[in-house]
Amino acid sequence: MDHQVEAIDEILEHYPEEPEFLIFLLQDIQSAYGFISKESMQMVSDYTGVPITQAYSVATFYQSFRLEPIGEHELRVCLGTACHLKGGQRIVEELERKLNIKAGETTEDMMYTLDTVNCVGACALAPVLLADEKYETNITASKIKKILKKIESK
Ligand code: FES
Repeated sequence: MDHQVEAIDEILEHYPEEPEFLIFLLQDIQSAYGFISKESMQMVSDYTGVPITQAYSVATFYQSFRLEPIGEHELRVCLGTACHLKGGQRIVEELERKLNIKAGETTEDMMYTLDTVNCVGACALAPVLLADEKYETNITASKIKKILKKIESK
């Protein structure tokens, strides 16, 4: 049996074979793998008896689920009210231009995933960017350059 299938089987075994455990299973798979692959979605659907199309609509309804693999580095721009007022959208556009992807996407080399989030609780330091969970504050275009450089030099 392939490695991932075996590991997903192990996650499945933590829950009864019932439809109401769908979300728990998806959460556990995502925290183990960072995203929910087609194969694991099929396994969850078979296990819980939730039809695959329904399982996908649940996963897309809860925006926290990822159906694509994420890049090595995750950049999340805050677009809560304070950050939005201080130019958060411009930060998103700057990153989209630099990385040549749209928010929600991953670069082809799997280096970066760009996303937006709601208020991350640091409004006084807006606009805020989470770079691999690290708070980068008072973001400007030149700060973005530095942050990317720092990541790439690691
Ligand atoms: S709105 Fe961005 S930290 Fe609060």
